[in-house]
Amino acid sequence: MTSIEAYRARLVDQLVRAGVLTDPAWRAAVETVPREVFVPRLVWLLGDDGWYTARELDADQRLELAYDARLTPVTQVDDLVDARPGDRGRCPSSSATMPELVVTMLEELEVSDGQRVLEIGTGSGYSAALLAARLGDDQVVTVEVDPAVAAAAGEALTTAGYKPCLVTGDGAAGWPDGAPYDRVIATCSVRWIPYAWVEQTRPGGLILAPLAGPFGNQGLVRLDVRGDGTAAGRLLARDVAFMRLRAHRPAGRPDQAERFGDPPTRPITLDPEEFIGDRFPAWVAGLPVIDADASVGRGEDESASYWLEADDGSLAVVDMPQQQTAYVGPRDLWGLVEDTWRWWVEAGRPGPWTFGITVTPERQWIWHESGRIWELPA
Ligand SMILES: C[S@@+](CC[C@H](N)C(=O)[O-])C[C@H]1O[C@@H](n2cnc3c(N)ncnc32)[C@H](O)[C@@H]1O
Repeated sequence: MTSIEAYRARLVDQLVRAGVLTDPAWRAAVETVPREVFVPRLVWLLGDDGWYTARELDADQRLELAYDARLTPVTQVDDLVDARPGDRGRCPSSSATMPELVVTMLEELEVSDGQRVLEIGTGSGYSAALLAARLGDDQVVTVEVDPAVAAAAGEALTTAGYKPCLVTGDGAAGWPDGAPYDRVIATCSVRWIPYAWVEQTRPGGLILAPLAGPFGNQGLVRLDVRGDGTAAGRLLARDVAFMRLRAHRPAGRPDQAERFGDPPTRPITLDPEEFIGDRFPAWVAGLPVIDADASVGRGEDESASYWLEADDGSLAVVDMPQQQTAYVGPRDLWGLVEDTWRWWVEAGRPGPWTFGITVTPERQWIWHESGRIWELPA
């Protein structure tokens, strides 16, 4: 056994032990696809200061990083192209998703021979290669929005011997030229489901996508596409964290502090610390304000305040030391969060599987099986 074969066998072993690699057909794909080809020499490593720094790996480091089931090599930060060793950045914008998550999602996709798959978010190209190995090059379309990322993925796919249809473009529009698909899989997260994905999926087909919320935390949903142009499905038990589809990123609004003035305040009934960093609860808390963006502000004394803002001009600030909140604009964003949180706690903190999403051409909404719904601004 060469050392690369040994690495690949180790990866398969890790995935089997983790209980995520159960299907022999996916196992054969993982055993075949050379993941090291999809991890570039230059990757971004996270430092203690919260910044990423570009580092060049030697061959052994690259193999170690590529073949660990639970490591996600970050391959691009802040949409930077032509990065050099030592460059620094804040926000990962592309990666070779950790194999454990890639394989979990591929198994959840429930593909069978002969099916056509549309992948949104090519990234490194590794998951597209697995799909091509499993289903055949002609059955796979993969869309990447960033031309530099797409070019690198194209090279890696060629080196590895796969030729899926690689499209550079906005995956929110799907890829109508290749439709209809039996499966759509998004490897970037969305606040709601772009309707083009439903339109381009055959009735009876499935859409698998990570759902994002304003607090940056996510659930994984699988929708059945019906013959009447609608789709619906429940969240899967596993929560995941993915980079956003570009159009669903936080808006990056100018500083709103001046707009805020001195509005009336009230005590909070929910401290953001109760859910921040706790993926699924944070996604639930964000449901009534899915279009809003959250950020943390620091006062001169380093005290934290929590900001929530939306395109309709709604702006709420939660003052953590004072445990109070105030808002301007049409919606009391924090009040809405508190209301949903109160409901969730009183309902006994129901889990992901009890939530779902329904998508129609006109509107879409998240529902809980008890009957409560949250309209999405799609
Ligand atoms: C987590 S990475 C994908 C990982 C990849 N599937 C793999 O196996 O390596 C997410 C990718 O989605 C891409 N992306 C973001 N918005 C997109 C969009 N609107 N259309 C297509 N791709 C998009 C990003 O550029 C990034 O490369």
